Amino acid sequence: MPVSLFDTKTPLEPLRDQLRAAIDAVVDRGTYILGPDVTAFEQEFAAYLGAGHAVGVANGTEAITIALRALGVGPGDEVVVPSFTFYASAEAIPPTGARPVFCDVDPDTFCITADTVRKVLTPRTKAVIAVHLFGNVAPVPEIAALGVPVLEDAAQAAGSRSGDGRPGALGTIGTFSFFPSKNLGGMGDGGAITTSDAALAERVRMLRFHGSRDKQTFELVGHNSRLDELQAAVLRVQLPHLDAWSDGRRAAASHYEAEGLGELVALPRTVPGSEPAWHLYVIRHERADELAAALGPAGIGTKAYYRVPAHRQPAMRAWAEGVELPATDEVARTHLAIPLSPVLAREQAAEVVAAVRAAAAA
Ligand SMILES: Cc1ncc(COP(=O)(O)O)c(C=O)c1O
Repeated sequence: MPVSLFDTKTPLEPLRDQLRAAIDAVVDRGTYILGPDVTAFEQEFAAYLGAGHAVGVANGTEAITIALRALGVGPGDEVVVPSFTFYASAEAIPPTGARPVFCDVDPDTFCITADTVRKVLTPRTKAVIAVHLFGNVAPVPEIAALGVPVLEDAAQAAGSRSGDGRPGALGTIGTFSFFPSKNLGGMGDGGAITTSDAALAERVRMLRFHGSRDKQTFELVGHNSRLDELQAAVLRVQLPHLDAWSDGRRAAASHYEAEGLGELVALPRTVPGSEPAWHLYVIRHERADELAAALGPAGIGTKAYYRVPAHRQPAMRAWAEGVELPATDEVARTHLAIPLSPVLAREQAAEVVAAVRAAAAA
């Protein structure tokens, strides 16, 4: 029985009629930009997270740039960011004029910690980007205690929880991507910025709309970066199901544990008190590429997402000189995503674990 890396289609099957009706309603209304579905989604998403405000934007990358600019980040400033993340977390910094400063991660959680951040703080540090990688929850309160505003890149963590609240409502400001494969994914690009600071939210609203409140007076050099009505309508149908899908993701991770995967490879460790809605289930193994090469022919989907971490990418050369991140290099080399979805069944997990066992023994 083949097991694919992820399954974005099956969870949406029961919602097809509702999705079509929501799309039809937008077409019938004829309002496609900043209409009632965007407003309603912003309110519903903020309420879901326990954040004061959510502002829809065009994608998760621009969400970070706009959020940083709303925090006042600009030329001469430094922004701390992990290198073991999707490249966009770092790519979003230079458009503000600030420089990315790369920090290491805890190899067991894949997330930054107060200790890894402390090592790279300088008087020029204006913000820290805490990425909730793979849906794991970074220790935001401990990082915030260092005294620098924390921007949570929660692109992969919709549906995750911690004892302190949900990602996106833990730091000063949070950002989300609604790229179709995300835990909460649209049918195109989309993103959101969340905050409980009303003044920040107002600045974000202006920045996403050419720096204007009314399209007459332009107070800031802004962006044209809006979530569109069709995506908001689709996301509104999905949001009420996010918790059940997240339970399914957690159940899939438990199936792997129950099948003994932890005896064969290093499993991701959660930050105490958190319940991740695993976006990807990422294990570590000394011979990760060999494992992947053996699992493919066995019908098991795998993927190494970040073999070349952000600070080693050609475009980041100007900010990577002398940067040494041993844990990042190790996890970049050893990580491997294995199948995970809200509907991954125990039998599928057993199939994957049996294939890993055979491959690891070879
Ligand atoms: C951690 C992380 N940050 C940022 C992004 C950027 O989001 P988008 O693709 O919507 O621009 C993504 C996803 O693609 C991501 O996984």
